[in-house]
Amino acid sequence: MSGKKLNIGLFGFGCVGFGLYEVLQKTPGLKADIKKICVKDRLKKREIGSENFTFDPSDIFNDPEINVVVELIDDADAAFEIVSKALKSGKAVVSANKKMIAEHFTELLELQREYKVPLLYEAACCASMPIIRNLEEYYDNDLLDSIEGIVNGSTNYILTKTFKENLSYEAALKEAQEKGFAESNPILDTGGFDAKYKLLILLAHSFGYIAQPADLFNIGIDKIGKLELKYAKEKDLKIKLVAKAFKNADGDISAFVLPKFVAAEDRLYNVDDVFNGVVTKTSFADEQFFVGKGAGAHPTASAVLSDISALGYDYKYEYKKISQQQADSRQQIDGKPLTLSDDVTLKVLLRHEAADAENLKKYFISIDESYLNHESGYITGTISLQQLREVEGGNLKQSFVLL
Ligand code: HSE
Repeated sequence: MSGKKLNIGLFGFGCVGFGLYEVLQKTPGLKADIKKICVKDRLKKREIGSENFTFDPSDIFNDPEINVVVELIDDADAAFEIVSKALKSGKAVVSANKKMIAEHFTELLELQREYKVPLLYEAACCASMPIIRNLEEYYDNDLLDSIEGIVNGSTNYILTKTFKENLSYEAALKEAQEKGFAESNPILDTGGFDAKYKLLILLAHSFGYIAQPADLFNIGIDKIGKLELKYAKEKDLKIKLVAKAFKNADGDISAFVLPKFVAAEDRLYNVDDVFNGVVTKTSFADEQFFVGKGAGAHPTASAVLSDISALGYDYKYEYKKISQQQADSRQQIDGKPLTLSDDVTLKVLLRHEAADAENLKKYFISIDESYLNHESGYITGTISLQQLREVEGGNLKQSFVLL
């Protein structure tokens, strides 16, 4: 596609779609134009003239001049249909839909290989921060030990506002929605699902492991209560929603999304508001720290723009680590393929209702501290990820925060 003019068929004209339109207007150097925009709602008033829009997807799929499909819609199932159809039609695709990509990672990989067209999705992880391309390209010869970060802007915004400005959870969420940070179903943000989808994508590009969403354990911020906030304030800590993937002592991969108490010396401590931050740890480079705005129209559109621009010089993800993993497992290198394991221990604070105290203590490997009043209590100590998953599945009213 190098040197070729990029004619874009855009699906969706919400917050990010309009953001992309604006950003493209201000980037005249890029040889890319939006030729048609396909939207669903016929009655919605839009910022630009009706001649730009169509309600019929085939106006994009059947237009031979359109060589790039940009998918920026909300519905993950409809997005998958659009993206697979575009790839099958030989059109390159840019998407920001983390849920769709996480749920169909293997199929999307196969479609790219079969139809020999690229799908780029930098905006799906951490919006403005170019983390996917870094993980994909840069760490080829360096052994990655771990990636850990704040990958959801809305929850970081809510935590910052409730912590620093004593705003209520509901008011902070409303602000995040008004600013266009939150998903249309905000439980995806607050329940840690959006962070999990992003972690799944990062896991594939960093360690070459393709997980299913259900494989990765996630707890969000929706159950954090006054006790955890008080605990954090008394100890000069902040609470951050952290996604982590790392090689454990057995050489397996462990990964999860959990709220975490973060101390001032932690790099993630000052990553506030809508910012995202990711710390990579590698054998030779040691720690590296990426930071950037993780949500919002223009930050997200900037990553979409960068992907469009990359298509202009034929960039595609090579998925080198996935290919390596697949080759290794075919040849039985090191005896076994890379696996995802919950057999790791974590230090946590568990807040619980008074009646559950004795039962919950049984799940811990060791207990450092416990406190109980007539209503509720907390336990700090070491628990395995397996047991933590079991407790969460048990439908008790509790909250976990990593220590
Ligand atoms: N709802 C997402 C977030 C949008 O808050 O991070 C960006 O992916």
